[in-house]
Amino acid sequence: MDLLAFNIKDAFEGEKFKTALSWLPDHEHSSVTRFKYERDQHLALTSLLLRRHYFSQRLQVPWPSLQFDRLPKGKPILKNEEIDFNISHEGSWVIFGATKERGLQIGVDTVIIDRPKSISIDEFIKSFLAQLTQQELELIKSNQDQELQLRTFYELWACKESYIKAIGVGLSLDLSKLDFRNENDQVHVCLFLDGKDLTSWTFHLSSLDKDTIAVVCYGSPDQQTNSTVQLAFNTKLLAKEPLHTITKTAFDQLNYQELKNNKWIVAQLQT
Ligand code: COA
Ligand code: MG
Repeated sequence: MDLLAFNIKDAFEGEKFKTALSWLPDHEHSSVTRFKYERDQHLALTSLLLRRHYFSQRLQVPWPSLQFDRLPKGKPILKNEEIDFNISHEGSWVIFGATKERGLQIGVDTVIIDRPKSISIDEFIKSFLAQLTQQELELIKSNQDQELQLRTFYELWACKESYIKAIGVGLSLDLSKLDFRNENDQVHVCLFLDGKDLTSWTFHLSSLDKDTIAVVCYGSPDQQTNSTVQLAFNTKLLAKEPLHTITKTAFDQLNYQELKNNKWIVAQLQT
């Protein structure tokens, strides 16, 4: 699988925003400009640019010829290709993941560890009890450190989101049924549903920066795959301090210049 990350901070200063917007086909401009705030515009722009950048290079097809659509529950897809992909944005990050093997599905989710302002961490976590299993709550509470409890809560949240985004069901799934744990002598993160270990799904947790978590969910409802093993065992575990050294390589970080150098954009600019 391929994983890309883009930090929008200072990326579209001055004329760069207009220039980057002009790389998109006209019909996509309104999904960027409809946002009131600059930050949301930049996130939406990056979301659209990353998918075109990635697929034009991978499939070696002209950037404007790529056609995207959405499944009924909202998951974006590339038309006429069986390659699944997914996107998430929060704060200043946009992340993108695409599968390598046909038939597999991917969901990505990024979350910022937001410290509650008017209530305690304890009260904040309690307000999400309906979305957590008893075991997950125990995992959160297994650390004395409140900051780590909060981080664990957000990790579980992103795990749940990554799975619902992989299967594309949106919010129609009862999140409290999804039970995430560190399994197998604590070497990887796995998902239990109705007491059953869903071994055909792999989860990878990492940090984009000290307050931003990224989770990748990769697999299929039935098919076991070997290609995910490395990813599964490179994950940061739930409820543990982040280990930048083992998790930082999961995403390739792109910048404005690398998008600009995409040969299909260069070709477009020359016409
Ligand atoms: N399945 C998979 N991906 C979807 C999707 C679906 N049904 N609907 C939208 N997406 C993709 C899109 O690419 C979208 O980006 P784009 O509009 O730029 O194309 C991207 O997901 C947005 O993801 P993210 O940035 O992570 O947003 P989100 O976390 O606010 O929303 C949703 C993700 C829309 C799929 C949905 O799950 C949601 O609203 N979740 C929040 C609900 C919640 O309270 N969760 C609690 C967990 S404890
Ligand atoms: Mg999200």
